[in-house]
Amino acid sequence: MGALRSVDPRFSPRPRHPARGIATAGRRESTLRGGEVSAWGRLLRANRAAASIASCCFCFRPSGGEEFRGRLSRDHHSRLGRSPTSFEAAALLIAHLSDPHLRPTGELYQGLVDSNAMFDAAVSHVNALDPAPDLVIVTGDIVDHGAPAEYEHARSALAAIRRPVLMLPGNHDEREAFRAAFAGRGYLPATGPLHFAAGDHGPVRILGLDITIPGEHGGEASEEACGWLEARLREEPARPTLVLMHQPPFQTGIACIDAYNCRGETRLEAILTSHPQVERVLCGHVHRFVMTRFANTVLVTAPSTTTAIALRLAPDAEPASFVEPPAFLLHQWRGDALVTHLVPVGRFRGPLPFF
Ligand SMILES: [Fe+2]
Repeated sequence: MGALRSVDPRFSPRPRHPARGIATAGRRESTLRGGEVSAWGRLLRANRAAASIASCCFCFRPSGGEEFRGRLSRDHHSRLGRSPTSFEAAALLIAHLSDPHLRPTGELYQGLVDSNAMFDAAVSHVNALDPAPDLVIVTGDIVDHGAPAEYEHARSALAAIRRPVLMLPGNHDEREAFRAAFAGRGYLPATGPLHFAAGDHGPVRILGLDITIPGEHGGEASEEACGWLEARLREEPARPTLVLMHQPPFQTGIACIDAYNCRGETRLEAILTSHPQVERVLCGHVHRFVMTRFANTVLVTAPSTTTAIALRLAPDAEPASFVEPPAFLLHQWRGDALVTHLVPVGRFRGPLPFF
């Protein structure tokens, strides 16, 4: 397989990206050369072990070797304009769920769909992953109406996740009920918007940006939210960072949801563009996997664990939802880059012979 790929023109070195000036050929070579798969495995196992050890500066020392680690991090370092640091070689696996729209125990989502059971299935799938994720994130709309009975059920459902969980509110959440329900998790502020910064889950820093507007379906990257974000990004400019928010700041082409996206995108774009350590902006809200380039980084929206908003791209399309196969995202920090996988929830025929 390695020899075949080495002569395939699809995998030949690529020129620098015209806008970002990032050479991507080195990263691709490092993952495709024959014999390096086992090296990757050794490195990731070593990094996972190292990541479980508390360290003042994420000074992990995996056993993959200085030469190999240097090659892994070449692109990321060139982007940040500095020499390699050790945390970039450590691995981190993040399961990204979104928009579960949980209901009080025994009640259906919109009276039609058992969103609680669908979330339980997603949690079971996450718990069965091998390797297990280091962290689980949920990008909003934890419940459907913001009601205390819904949060009571949510607390029970979320307790089944065997890994640390970080959550943001969405437009279907109620800020104070959300804060009260999850205050015991220890990462939410006591007052104000529910922004959070989490830096103790491995090599990647997680910044949660609460852009919800109480009583509205759309969000806003307000001056307050952007000020908070910029201050956090200035704290650790060399550390790979993920920015979480609920409503995405771009047009998906699905008119019924684009009417309620994140306003203030120009303000947000200016901040993100000046902080190249942002590896991803991770959103929910759209109930579909969508990816785009935004502010010189990659922005993805996670699918919902319950219904999917219909993929209808005609401007006058009738809004609708479908019970498509639920899914979540799996983000893996591999030392020099974040790789995102789409994971359908369920049991499927297989394993069949690899070809
Ligand atoms: Fe939602």
